[in-house]
Amino acid sequence: MDSTTLQPTTFRTENRPTVAVQRFRQPADIFEALFQSVQGGEAHARPTLELAPESPFLPFLEIGFALRARMEKPEHHDYLLQRLRPHLSVMIGTLPASILPMGMLPKLAPLPGFRELEDISDDEIHHWLIQEGGLIYGEMQRFELENYFDAIKPFLPPGGVMVDLGSGLGKVVMTAALTLPFVRCIGVELLNYRHRLAQERLVRLLTLARQGLAALPGALTLETPLRLPSGVMATGRHLLDLGSRILFLENDMFKVDVRGASLVFLYSTCFGPLMDAISDKLARELPEGALVSTTTYPIKHPAFRLLQSHAPGTLSWTSVMIYQRIGPEMAQPASEARYLHQPDADAWEIRAREDLADMTGGGT
Ligand SMILES: C[S@@+](CC[C@H](N)C(=O)[O-])C[C@H]1O[C@@H](n2cnc3c(N)ncnc32)[C@H](O)[C@@H]1O
Repeated sequence: MDSTTLQPTTFRTENRPTVAVQRFRQPADIFEALFQSVQGGEAHARPTLELAPESPFLPFLEIGFALRARMEKPEHHDYLLQRLRPHLSVMIGTLPASILPMGMLPKLAPLPGFRELEDISDDEIHHWLIQEGGLIYGEMQRFELENYFDAIKPFLPPGGVMVDLGSGLGKVVMTAALTLPFVRCIGVELLNYRHRLAQERLVRLLTLARQGLAALPGALTLETPLRLPSGVMATGRHLLDLGSRILFLENDMFKVDVRGASLVFLYSTCFGPLMDAISDKLARELPEGALVSTTTYPIKHPAFRLLQSHAPGTLSWTSVMIYQRIGPEMAQPASEARYLHQPDADAWEIRAREDLADMTGGGT
């Protein structure tokens, strides 16, 4: 059978009912309590970005404020739509989520010196929209991650380093560290508040692990054989050293070198326009044999061979692709337009006018 079309039929389709762990009788109880502690990130409260002169997001805020100012006044809607129209290929949703009422822009006046939309170039709007789309949050459900690690397990040698680029609240990183015997699992997240939430969750995870280990009837030693949730055999070190096996970095994924990774996880469903840049980076940095998985968007770079492609509704609600870095080092640039989609601009404008009218209580 062609391995790229392999579709295991044993994938879970929903989460098992959650039964709170009352007592730690065996390591499996500790694992269950730890998995339960990392659920629920999708529902987290989204604070707005801080509006301070030293914020690294100042350029992002400036353009967001300029767009939002136009959105708030019906007489400016024509101009707003005219400026957004050339960039539909990189826009997720009808209007950018962060300028909507529940979006990430603070409800404050712009800082002195912030430019108006007329003074912001098309190129700046284009790149703002790409960044804006990437900041949308979403995560896989527990059963989808179980499916994912089942699928990836046969391709992974024991040990190795897992990296999640855009790690959000850290669910995948912590799930990976519990599920498989990675030496290290690293999450890289751009937004400070998400990074902080991941750190808080890690503290909770480690506290719970310590409590569980202390409560076990027989002490787990570094060398005690331990069956991991994935069925892989490891030793007590896996849980005893959990804290040193997980690391969260607050950084831009393009500034972090992933040379040492054996698996790069990308929940790339909102990274469509970034896929070329990400593929080029991974082709430059990853060693031969390293694995990369993506959701929704494929990698189209000759340095990567598709190992498995899982259709939407099988492993996860969206498609999941698993690739392997092949061949010698290469830095072939990707073509600009390969991952861009081009929605029907007239249909978009109708939807956008309806949304704007709903928000501002008037026709546009
Ligand atoms: C869809 S969420 C996925 C979260 C996590 N990987 C998961 O699957 O549970 C994507 C995350 O990538 C982050 N992100 C977007 N652009 C980034 C960048 N350039 N560097 C690091 N993180 C980024 C977003 O803030 C968001 O938290």
